[in-house]
Amino acid sequence: MERFPDGFWFGASTSSYQTEGDNKGSALWDWEVKKGWERSGEAAGSWERFDEDLACLKKLGADAYRFSLEWSRVQPEPDRFDDEALARYAGWARKLKAAGIRPIVCFHHFSEPKWLLERHPEGWTGDQVGRLFLAYVEAAAGALDAVTDFIPFNEPMVFALGAYGAGIFPPGRLGFFSLPGGPVPAAGERLARAHNEAYALLKRLRPGCTVGVAHNVAALEPAKPGHEPACEVWDELMHLDFLERTRESLDYIGVNYYTRIFVSRAPWPVPLRCLPGYAEVEKALGPLFKLLGGRRDPGPRTGMGWEVVPEGLERVLLKLWRRYQKPLVVTENGVAAAEGVDRAAFLRDHLAAMARAMDAGVDVRGYLYWSLTDNWEWGTYKPRFGLFTRERKAGPAVELFAQVARERRPPKGKKGKGGVHG
Ligand code: BGC
Repeated sequence: MERFPDGFWFGASTSSYQTEGDNKGSALWDWEVKKGWERSGEAAGSWERFDEDLACLKKLGADAYRFSLEWSRVQPEPDRFDDEALARYAGWARKLKAAGIRPIVCFHHFSEPKWLLERHPEGWTGDQVGRLFLAYVEAAAGALDAVTDFIPFNEPMVFALGAYGAGIFPPGRLGFFSLPGGPVPAAGERLARAHNEAYALLKRLRPGCTVGVAHNVAALEPAKPGHEPACEVWDELMHLDFLERTRESLDYIGVNYYTRIFVSRAPWPVPLRCLPGYAEVEKALGPLFKLLGGRRDPGPRTGMGWEVVPEGLERVLLKLWRRYQKPLVVTENGVAAAEGVDRAAFLRDHLAAMARAMDAGVDVRGYLYWSLTDNWEWGTYKPRFGLFTRERKAGPAVELFAQVARERRPPKGKKGKGGVHG
């Protein structure tokens, strides 16, 4: 690929709960204590330090910034929207725009108000929460006059799985996650419906705006020959089902890509049907993981315990393009620091993988690195994804990022594993 096409979004992503700090109105605030997690506390302090974040974006030469609104700040009580909070977010968007940086606003990045689940403990497995979500989107979008790009949900299926299957996010339900008709697909279906309704609403409120989803898509591989059907089960549940339900309400598909996953056929026929080889699943199952046929490769790992597989990004982009023929945006891609992990190499190799997909004809419209600064990684500060530290000190990939932004051209890179030495 010669150069980024005109209008290509090149920037970074963050989320409110992970960066703003002191989000006491979120259901996650007490949840952290209940789970015994490391407290999010001040996070990256972005609620007070937005101007420093803006300075970081300028250093990068970024022309796009994806951030999320904290629902519990915008609507601290069921019947009250907070004009001051909305004015602050609207001010951020104006400052970004004045600096030539496109604000891309996400309305839901895992965090929900405490009052929401107190009133509706069934959450997204019931029909009330979607209605309330739309009222919040309507109030917030109305205030964000400088924003033309919206994302109703970040990783809806990761959220559905975390909240209604794996017990990670409030309300913390545990269950067989791939069970058809179970709470995870039920929540997924309602999240898709809310996306479609938010799309129609936003198009009506702000004609000409763009609306996408930031969808977590891993590069899946069957753990063994013969395990392809298990791989398809996981692909349907986590990737395709949501996209099928929302395909008419997506101006582009945003892809959050991090790594590859091997999927095994579970030794029991129902109701789980497959065993996805995430680092987190391996950790949760301990020795059982291997006994049940789980597969993870022994290669070097990031600070999340994830493999670095740049060509997986190429595969994922090609696959989604072939199936949907919709523009794609890499809405998240990044690496948590670890011994032997080279963030600049990771960035170079993933940009090269994206460029190969574009050369093959895939319509990619943007790349947003996760994350601008180190932040609270859902229960811990250990994994550090930031281009900048929480003190806003530039890390090792900032120079390369700024060079790519200046030249508007992905660096030349070979096809390879990249990003990890050794
Ligand atoms: C999420 C982020 C998270 C990142 C790294 C994505 O799944 O959207 O909130 O920090 O991955 O784990």
